[in-house]
Amino acid sequence: MTDLLISPQQQPGRPDGPSLAANRAGDRLDRAALRELAYHSREVLKLGQAENGALIACPNFPVYRYCWLRDGSFCAHALDRTGQPGQAAAFFRWIGRTLAGQEGKVRSALDRHAAGETLAATDFLNTRYTLEGSEESGNDDWWNFQLDGYGTWLWAFAEHLRRFPDEKLREELLPAVELTGRYLAAFWRLPNYDCWEENLEDIHPATLAAIYGGLTAAARLYPASEVCQQGKKQASTLRRFVKAHGLESGSLVKSLGRLDVDASLLGAGVPYGLFPPRGKTMLTTLDRIANELVAPDGGVYRYRQDVYFGGGEWLLLTAWLGWYYTQAGQRKKALDCLHWVARQARPNGEMPEQVAHHLLASEHQKPWEEKWGLAASPLLWSHAMYLILYTALFGEGYL
Ligand code: BGC
Repeated sequence: MTDLLISPQQQPGRPDGPSLAANRAGDRLDRAALRELAYHSREVLKLGQAENGALIACPNFPVYRYCWLRDGSFCAHALDRTGQPGQAAAFFRWIGRTLAGQEGKVRSALDRHAAGETLAATDFLNTRYTLEGSEESGNDDWWNFQLDGYGTWLWAFAEHLRRFPDEKLREELLPAVELTGRYLAAFWRLPNYDCWEENLEDIHPATLAAIYGGLTAAARLYPASEVCQQGKKQASTLRRFVKAHGLESGSLVKSLGRLDVDASLLGAGVPYGLFPPRGKTMLTTLDRIANELVAPDGGVYRYRQDVYFGGGEWLLLTAWLGWYYTQAGQRKKALDCLHWVARQARPNGEMPEQVAHHLLASEHQKPWEEKWGLAASPLLWSHAMYLILYTALFGEGYL
């Protein structure tokens, strides 16, 4: 396996930083402690990046020692927002090389689909790759058919170039963007696993939102690309589809045909813009998420029926909710989210995937721990979302 800049055992420095340790007892951390955590988070991301640009999901959790397009794209975006565009660009170049290796698979899937064949889940692109950029062996073992990460990387790449224009990089990645665009435009209607790697049989508005965000971003980035402009047309069709089938009493739903919500639906407003963040659909959805998925202490659940590791509160989702609030003009609520996430950091600054203060299904915690060990930590995506919220509140740039 490609070496990370750090070994799993040696987590990044500054765990003993005075403000991290000194301010954890109180309910709210002071500004220096929040900043210290931001600094630490950025280090976790930098040290979790392999020399070839791949970003690992979690160095200490064996089944997460891969690079997911979804997690990695949010990490790259956080690096962009905190003055590390070179590291973000390295990640996008890694995607470019990785997808070049998948061209044959995509072409075959597109041809067979066009010929009316029904494809198996394993015929589609994987959701994660080894750090070297190849498919892991034993491909059937993971819940690999997920489309959202492909939309997310297009969105993150466009955000990168918006902040740091780079014509060479834009040209270099056109083949990967077009390959992704063709793939998403052809397959967005198919059921596939959601962003929690569950429910293969269903269609998920949150996944569709990521695809929409990706296809529209690609069209803005490459106005002269016929493929990208076609993708934009598909995105409009997709939007109409969600309006017709993905709403219940004015709120988006977790999956078509279900009535419950999922916190990942936040993405439909921020950042993917499937619906305006302050428009009626998103505010109704936001209300449901805030009322149904926020635990008594302020942490956010994925969805009510969640049993993964007992169904805890997720740091990345709480930060995502805070990010949403910054875009909806609710700064005080956004700050509360930031403080909640910061309080979940361990004494050495590590942020786990989830915490178990108010489990939804506590009887499931042990079986998962016996299977895979303690919940993943540090999760790079948790650190990335903390940084995104931190910079949305206090400004982007070098920390
Ligand atoms: C989550 C995914 C995530 C992966 C790696 C899974 O448990 O459900 O959303 O991409 O972990 O962090």
